[in-house]
Amino acid sequence: MKSAVGPDCPSVGARPSSRARYFRHALVTLTLAAGLVLFTFWFPSVVQLDPVAILSKHHHHHPSPGGDYGPTLDAYRLFQALPDPQKLRDRLQQYASSVHQAGVNRTDAEWTRSQWLDFGLPEVDIVTYEPLLNYPLEQRLAIVEPASLQFEADLNEPIIDEDDTSHLQREIPPVFHGHSASGDVTAELVYANYGTRGDFAQLARRGVAVKGRIVLVRYGRIARGVKVMLAEAAGAAGVLIYSDPADDGYARGPVYPDGPFRPAGSVERGSVLFMNQYPGDPLTPGEAATGDVKRLPIGSARNLPTIPSLPISYGNALPLLRALAGHGHNVSDWAGGWSGALPVTYATGPSTARIQLVNRVRNQITPIWNVVARIKGWQEPDRVVIAGSHRDSWVFGAADPGSGTTTLFETARALGVLLRAGWRPRRTIMLASWDAEEYGLTGSTEWVEDHRDWLRDKAVAYLNLDVAVYGPHFIAGASPSLVPLIYNVTRGVIVAGTNQTVYDEWVDRPEGHYVDGTPYVTPLGSGSDYTPFLQHAGIASVDFSFAGPQGLYHSAYDSFHNMAKHVDPDFRYHQAATRVLGGLLLRLADLPVIPLNLTHYATALRRHVAELELAIRRKMCPGEDNLMNPLECQRDPTVATDADAGTGPGHRSVLDLGRLYKAVDHLTERATDLHHDVDKLTAKAGAFCDRGSHKQQKKCRAQRATLNARLYHFECQFLRPEGIPSRPWFKHTIYAPGIYTGYSALTLPILRESVEEEQWDRFLTEMDAMVQLLHRAADFVKGKD
Ligand SMILES: *[C@@H]1O[C@H](CO)[C@@H](O)[C@H](O)[C@H]1NC(C)=O
Ligand SMILES: *[C@@H]1O[C@H](CO)[C@@H](O)[C@H](O)[C@H]1NC(C)=O
Ligand SMILES: *[C@@H]1O[C@H](CO)[C@@H](O)[C@H](O)[C@H]1NC(C)=O
Ligand SMILES: *[C@@H]1O[C@H](CO)[C@@H](O)[C@H](O)[C@H]1NC(C)=O
Ligand SMILES: *[C@@H]1O[C@H](CO)[C@@H](O)[C@H](O)[C@H]1NC(C)=O
Repeated sequence: MKSAVGPDCPSVGARPSSRARYFRHALVTLTLAAGLVLFTFWFPSVVQLDPVAILSKHHHHHPSPGGDYGPTLDAYRLFQALPDPQKLRDRLQQYASSVHQAGVNRTDAEWTRSQWLDFGLPEVDIVTYEPLLNYPLEQRLAIVEPASLQFEADLNEPIIDEDDTSHLQREIPPVFHGHSASGDVTAELVYANYGTRGDFAQLARRGVAVKGRIVLVRYGRIARGVKVMLAEAAGAAGVLIYSDPADDGYARGPVYPDGPFRPAGSVERGSVLFMNQYPGDPLTPGEAATGDVKRLPIGSARNLPTIPSLPISYGNALPLLRALAGHGHNVSDWAGGWSGALPVTYATGPSTARIQLVNRVRNQITPIWNVVARIKGWQEPDRVVIAGSHRDSWVFGAADPGSGTTTLFETARALGVLLRAGWRPRRTIMLASWDAEEYGLTGSTEWVEDHRDWLRDKAVAYLNLDVAVYGPHFIAGASPSLVPLIYNVTRGVIVAGTNQTVYDEWVDRPEGHYVDGTPYVTPLGSGSDYTPFLQHAGIASVDFSFAGPQGLYHSAYDSFHNMAKHVDPDFRYHQAATRVLGGLLLRLADLPVIPLNLTHYATALRRHVAELELAIRRKMCPGEDNLMNPLECQRDPTVATDADAGTGPGHRSVLDLGRLYKAVDHLTERATDLHHDVDKLTAKAGAFCDRGSHKQQKKCRAQRATLNARLYHFECQFLRPEGIPSRPWFKHTIYAPGIYTGYSALTLPILRESVEEEQWDRFLTEMDAMVQLLHRAADFVKGKD
């Protein structure tokens, strides 16, 4: 491991020779001529687009030999006309007619490859890894004592008459947790609400012992793996996770099949891997699971649970909650909302009844199959824009990930059409259909680990889809440098039948805005395949969805029937998702200046420092939110310093984030300068460097290449090679999943964790390191090495 950040990031890459470019341009002219013929042949029906005008626009940008070629806007417009709701619907119906559990059926990968080749993608490979996965053998949940309460859970999602695929009972895998441990335990039951750190602390304060007992928790708030991790740390013997109707069932609205909410028999499957430690293959952290890579023994993997767990329906949870009622504390008026919506008095227990939990799984090193396509860039083949979605699902997976997978397929089809019309992307485009995401982001993580150095050098951005459509409301999470591009693209996409752009519907919603009125984009934590790209390899990433009520998540009823009846009956949101993905992809691949905004990143950093300041005040000055006097607490200023009496730092040094703010200022200035330089260059020589003499054009291209490299190698400046102290696989110092949440992001994680643990000396040391890192990033942006 290296000791500093900068050296881990690549330096400005080499450019191809101008002679090679000259021949490419000659080829472009020929291809365009051929494309014009093909184009008119293929598209008599695209009425709103005039192909001749589109192609003459190419010629408008087509320069003298030595200049460069700019098909951008026209390929963009053409792409926007291509996504077809009927094709999306048909493909989703086909996809969601069978089960796609990872590592089981290579046919899915082969089908994907042959479809993409049929669409006209030039190179499509199946890339195999061999991680540890597990499969269910035997599951049981019962109340075994006293005889009067005896109950045997069915652990099964029953047939729903009108939902065709729910009739395929023999194909639906048993309910179980991915990466769960085998075990057979009989013990009393304790109820622990959502199973958060605060919930377990509350039980401890009230004297409810968890040790040796089976813990019943409900889904929600934090990742399921974190619930199991915390229960295990508290000494529990096993964990049951159920879906309370308060969270995604009848308390929210009509249940399936009348509405999209969870019925009594529906179960949320899912992985309980401790992804907050590291995602991917448990046995090969940081390394690709291929060939004869050295694997850890299962007992040494830090992200595998050791106690058994099961996911259950609220139908199956109700008898358990009844057995708890009247035992231990009545939680009806506990702060933090401990009661759900079931008709029972929620109580902590321990129960006097004894529960048996059996979970037997087969652990197996299993091949998984990513499908990866490549369209080589015409001008800048060594810069790569990647879009991906996972393909595996727990059952039929119509929304998760069928909506993302079909959107990616439709994007592939549209790119094939552009290719046939003579277009080539300026930069290389890669599309990826990941396997085994559901077990722990495994396909993408192994691939990123396999190609880490190459990716850090070449990857411009990663665009992720997962559940692309589960409702009508656009939401996004992203690296801040991509946010202005997301606004730009969503402003240009009208949702069919609504007369409104995606952006307008987004900005009109009340739930979140920045002070300037632009819609809120969440920082990326974890929970989908962007994690290895952003947090392990330092690549700017985005993840988006059309969101709504998600009541059937990871259930057998996440089916085509539900999608077509309740979620997206005319597939207009699938169409819009394809337009957004294609828009982002084409702008990033084709615009001569890479559309990443570093000023925007700096603005976000300032906000994250303010969030940090607030977190410190909450710890050091309990009960205050007044930030008027930033270096002192309003009340007793000795409260927190007493803890470190004598040696520890005082309030002033900890509360003084001045140097951090200054470093952000420095970065902001340098970023502004960089964008100013870009504007100057394009004003003078054109974005395509097609003005002035041959020599001036050449100089323009060289300058543009340097500026572009700073734009896309910016994100990796925040990597720390040795990683975050609490979990070294995570290398990003600005964004990480919260260690006690698993999904949502913790900004400035190293500093925030020191604050959380009240390690003030460590905080000051880490703040120094962060200040240095920010100044280095500023120097990088300026071009000072
Ligand atoms: C494998 O996948 C193909 C294509 O998706 C599907 O038709 C077939 O039924 C699957 N086989 C099994 C055993 O699941
Ligand atoms: C539980 O507590 C609530 C609120 O204090 C109270 O209304 C309810 O009657 C209690 N239930 C039982 C069974 O004690
Ligand atoms: C998006 O950006 C492009 C160029 O990058 C610009 O031509 C276009 O007008 C922008 N669109 C919107 C809606 O802002
Ligand atoms: C769509 O918007 C246009 C312009 O804002 C307006 O004239 C038209 O009436 C709207 N159509 C519908 C169906 O709302
Ligand atoms: C970049 O972001 C800054 C800060 O949000 C904004 O003022 C500026 O207009 C953006 N530039 C572009 C080209 O979007």
